[in-house]
Amino acid sequence: MGLITGSASDAKFFAIYDQVNQADIEVAQLGATKGHSEEVRRMASTILGDHAAVQQMARDIAADNGVIYDGIGDDDLASSHAATMKRLSGLSGPAFDEAYLKHEVPFHRNASLAVREQLVPAVQTEELKAYLEAVLPHFEHHLRLTHDAAEKLGVTVE
Ligand SMILES: [Fe+2]
Repeated sequence: MGLITGSASDAKFFAIYDQVNQADIEVAQLGATKGHSEEVRRMASTILGDHAAVQQMARDIAADNGVIYDGIGDDDLASSHAATMKRLSGLSGPAFDEAYLKHEVPFHRNASLAVREQLVPAVQTEELKAYLEAVLPHFEHHLRLTHDAAEKLGVTVE
């Protein structure tokens, strides 16, 4: 992600964080509805609910701190998300489950890394910084859920 740094950049960080959540929400909506196995549908529903909740929390923090952002985050993330949605939308049955699980692992790993190494050190809004640190374990929990589902279904993931 090509992040902007500096004290005036928190609006950009909120926008990117919102975008990451929105991307996983939309992919999880596909998983919850198109999932072939109950494991995938259940995992996707959990992830969907969690990301909707943390997205709203971040929006509330932004509003409380007078940070206004336009929802435009990172262009690379936007284009890779569009490609993922197109690809997953065209799949069904076990092929969908496999592709969804294979997507979720690097997505969550990269999201955790970006939050820990790029967003947390750079944000100026203390409430946002504390919040990001608090939600990191949740990203790691989603990685575990994905690995558990993949193992049950015999899908090899990273
Ligand atoms: Fe997640």
